[in-house]
Amino acid sequence: MKTAAQIVVLDAGGQYCHLIARKVRDLGVYSEVRASETPATELAGATGLIISGGPNSVYDPSSPTVDPAIFQSGARVLGICYGQQLMAHLLGGTVQLGEKGEYGLAMFHPDGCSSALFDGISGPQQVWMSHRDLVTAAPPGFSALGGTATCAIAAIESPARGLYAVQFHPEVVHTSRGREILSNFVFGICGCRRDWDPRGRVPQIEEEIRQAAGGRNVFFFVSGGVDSTVACALCRRALGADRVEGVYVDTGLMREGETDSMRQVPGLAIESAEAQFLGALAGAREPERKRHIIGEEFVRVQERILESRHLLDGHWILGQGTIYPDTIESGGSEKAAMIKTHHNRVPGIQRLIDAGRIIEPLRAYYKDEVREIGRELGLPAEVIDRHPFPGPGLAIRCLCAEADADLEATAEGWIVPVHSVGVQGDSRSYAPVLCIEELDHARATELINRIAGVNRVIARVGAIGPMADLRVRVSNLTPERLARLRHADAIVRRLSHASGFDRRIWQFPVVLIPLGTAEAPDSVVLRPVDSVDGMTAQSVEMPQDLLDSISAELLAVPGIGGVFYDLTHKPPATIEWE
Ligand code: XMP
Repeated sequence: MKTAAQIVVLDAGGQYCHLIARKVRDLGVYSEVRASETPATELAGATGLIISGGPNSVYDPSSPTVDPAIFQSGARVLGICYGQQLMAHLLGGTVQLGEKGEYGLAMFHPDGCSSALFDGISGPQQVWMSHRDLVTAAPPGFSALGGTATCAIAAIESPARGLYAVQFHPEVVHTSRGREILSNFVFGICGCRRDWDPRGRVPQIEEEIRQAAGGRNVFFFVSGGVDSTVACALCRRALGADRVEGVYVDTGLMREGETDSMRQVPGLAIESAEAQFLGALAGAREPERKRHIIGEEFVRVQERILESRHLLDGHWILGQGTIYPDTIESGGSEKAAMIKTHHNRVPGIQRLIDAGRIIEPLRAYYKDEVREIGRELGLPAEVIDRHPFPGPGLAIRCLCAEADADLEATAEGWIVPVHSVGVQGDSRSYAPVLCIEELDHARATELINRIAGVNRVIARVGAIGPMADLRVRVSNLTPERLARLRHADAIVRRLSHASGFDRRIWQFPVVLIPLGTAEAPDSVVLRPVDSVDGMTAQSVEMPQDLLDSISAELLAVPGIGGVFYDLTHKPPATIEWE
């Protein structure tokens, strides 16, 4: 088991510090993330340091920085993106405030130099950029290694001092040779030895759990999903089953049959709180308001349970199955932009985090790693292979409208004034949907890039009347609409499981939108997506016969007037609509 990381990633904000650490571990070298300001003396055990990217400007006094002593500590240092700017700024180079920035793919042209960082890599390289400021003069003693069309200095080095930096992101898959660049740094420059096998994760996590818990017991709110199940199983192994307790809260926002199946789990208590959640949500229509209410009610239920079970005496700690992507889109990694508030990160929970009373053993891991860990622990395949289901449940798949509104006909299709969340650049969008007649993913992508003011494209796949008869109807989160959605979701789940389609995809949200006629006021949107970690996703085509049978069954449900298919990838849309 590892005691010290050979490579430490210094978290300067942004979304990628844990991804960098993971990519280094994938090379077989143990790596972990520390705060960027960690004093050099505390980093003495590391052979290499990587300063991560981040959205800040070095000229903002509140921006993350590093202890300048790291540059003389003997450790090799690689700056990435903001890390390059910070290194240049602190060592006497020039960083210029960018005006328009450079986001997405770019061609990097190496200067024909023979840097150890680009060993084995020659000629123009596809890289991924995401920055506004740029380095315009390398610090004294550094040489520039190449640039892109809009960023003349996209890599620098001072090999004599062991300092290297790149403006692009070698850790993302879009940088074609990124893995080799990281490998050159880790092995060629730092001389690390292979000391990490992913199978070492479980004992490592168990040790962290024992340290975080101290003498305290762990209490879990189990959702039935893979993350909280794996996190709870890890705590049971680390501390012993008698020190870990679990409760499943029925929020009234669960899928059909979910609570009944949880009743079968031995040793798990069930708390019924449907009336509490639905009462609190009665007038909520905005996605962020729903998320906050649900998060706060979770805290209330939790406090009630802790009190009634006498768990408030300081001998307990709350366990959560939060995984890495959950924390970053809530702005959890220092300065990352907030896209959606994850229910594990609302203020009540944040207070417990600040008080050191939460343990999240999986917070540095991606879903595919969590599944691997679950398999290693011997958990059943039905649990491991479950599709993710959001904590706020059906509430964020049941869209509401404040007033009636008509559709707008345009040359491309109908603008449906139902707002949904999207993610563009690093920020959130909240915009209406464009509806087209044909199920054509390529056309949807073309339209979404061209038409301003919409962030999603759907196709109509089934309806009981013409599009012109449909309007958006004022609607709330009522038990009746939730039951309608639950019924629709169960139909889709049953048919996609029977056909085997569910095993080919990451997730299949079913969304209820308030679009319909007086008799059938709602429509269902099908959103099958593929993904590796939920951070990006592709809308997936499904077999026509499956689509036909789903559509026919859905249109027979009372209150459902139309069936639509979400054709949008993430980005620019998110997987969930809210
Ligand atoms: P988005 O909609 O942000 O979703 O593209 C990415 C992944 O996260 C899940 N998700 C959540 N999971 N609590 C959760 O436990 C939440 O509040 C939440 N919001 C989104 C979503 O289902 C998808 O897998």
